[in-house]
Amino acid sequence: MSLDKIELLWTKQLQLKDKQGIAKRNESVITGIRATTDGYGPRYYLAGHTDSAFLRMNSNSYLGLENHKKLIAAEAKAVDQFGTGSGAVRFISGSYQAHIDLEQKLAEFHGRESAMLFNAAYATMIGVLPQFITDDTLVISDALNHNCIINAMRLSKPAKKAIYKHLDMAELNQILQASKSQFKRACVVTDGVFSMRGDYARLDQIIALCQQHEAGYEQGIISLVDDSHGVGVWGQTGRGTEEITRTNADVLIATLGKAFAVNGGYVVSNRKIVDYLKETSPLYIFSNPITPAEAAAALKAVQIVDSEEGINKLKKLNKLSQQLRNGLTNLGFETLQSDHPIVPVFIRDTDKTGLLVKYLFAHKILATGLNFPVVPKGEEEIRLQVSASHTTKDIDYLLTVLSGFCDESNA
Ligand SMILES: Cc1ncc(COP(=O)(O)O)c(C=O)c1O
Repeated sequence: MSLDKIELLWTKQLQLKDKQGIAKRNESVITGIRATTDGYGPRYYLAGHTDSAFLRMNSNSYLGLENHKKLIAAEAKAVDQFGTGSGAVRFISGSYQAHIDLEQKLAEFHGRESAMLFNAAYATMIGVLPQFITDDTLVISDALNHNCIINAMRLSKPAKKAIYKHLDMAELNQILQASKSQFKRACVVTDGVFSMRGDYARLDQIIALCQQHEAGYEQGIISLVDDSHGVGVWGQTGRGTEEITRTNADVLIATLGKAFAVNGGYVVSNRKIVDYLKETSPLYIFSNPITPAEAAAALKAVQIVDSEEGINKLKKLNKLSQQLRNGLTNLGFETLQSDHPIVPVFIRDTDKTGLLVKYLFAHKILATGLNFPVVPKGEEEIRLQVSASHTTKDIDYLLTVLSGFCDESNA
C-alpha cells in the first residue's frame, strides 16, 4: 500500500503530540444546549459526559447570537426561499440577493464604499493579501499576527518580508524609514484585536506612520487589518479596533463566524479596490460563497448589532468582562488590563496550564489552555472568553472555582 510508509511516519508524529499534551484531534463534541435558567446562562452537553452540563468560557460567539430567534428565523426563511447551497461560484450563477444585501449592509456598517464576502475570514485573508503584494512590495507584519496572515504572506511573493516586535511602533517606523525608495510599494498587515491576548494594534499610530512615509514608496503604503475579534465585539457600537482607535484601515477584513455567530468572512474597502479583488482573488473566483441562508442570518446579526439591542448587549459584555478581570486580579491571577472580552490568565508554565484546564473541566467549565507554539514559551495561558449570553452568576461561579483552585494549590 502506498500509504504504509507515511502512516508510520505520521504515527510517530501523532504520538509526539499526544506526549507533549498539544494534540487537537480529540476535541470535545457538543451534543446539546440547555437554555438560560435560574439566572445562569446556557450550558452545553458533551459526548461522553451526558449527565453534566458545562459553562462555555472558550467560545468566540461574543454576543451569544447563535440562538437568537431572529437569526434562526432569517436563516430558516432564506432556506425556504433559496434552498441550501448556492450551487456555483458567485460570477457563474452563485450570487443571491441575500449575498448582495449583506454586502451592502457590511459596507454601510463599516462606513466603506464596498464589501465582498468569502466563505471564512481565513479564506478572505488568503484571497486578499496576496493581491496587494508584488515582487516589488515590502510586506511588514506584527510578530503575533494570526496564522491566516502568516500563510497569506507565505503564498505571496514579496520582494521582502519584515516582522516587527509585537505592537512595537518604533520598530515599524524604523523599517518604513530604512526601506524608503527600495520598494515600489509597502503593505503593513496586522490583527486588530490579537486573539490570544485580547490586546490590540494602535491603528491610529500605524496609519500615521504609513502617511508619514508614504512619499518614499512610488505605489504608496497600504494598511490591511484583520479585526475578526474586534468587529461586533468591541467599541460602543461594535465597530471594533477602528472604533477604539478612531481610525480606519485602508482594507479591513473580519469574520461572520464570531460575534455575528454565523459563518463566513469579508473585506471592506473602496469600490475600485473591491472591484479589482472580484476580478483577481482566487478564493472568490474559484470557490463557492457562504450559503444564501447564512448570508440572511448574518445580515440579521449585523442589523441587531447596529440597534439598541446590540448596544445593550455590548454594554453587558463590557460589564461582565470587567467583573471577570477584577475578580481574577483579586484572586492574584495575572491578566492584561483591557476591557476586551478575551481575558488571558497567564500561568507561564505548560504543565500548570494543563492542570488548571483539567480542574475547570472537572468543575463543569470549558476553557482553553494555550501553550507553545501557539503562544511564545513563557507566555502559557488560559484564554477565557466572555459572552453577552453569560450572566453575573456565571462569572461568580467561575471565580469561585478559580478561588478553590488557588486554595488547593496553596494547601
Ligand atoms: C484574527 C483572526 N482571523 C481569522 C480567523 C479565522 O476566522 P474564520 O473562522 O472566519 O476563518 C480567526 C479565528 O480564530 C482569527 O482569530
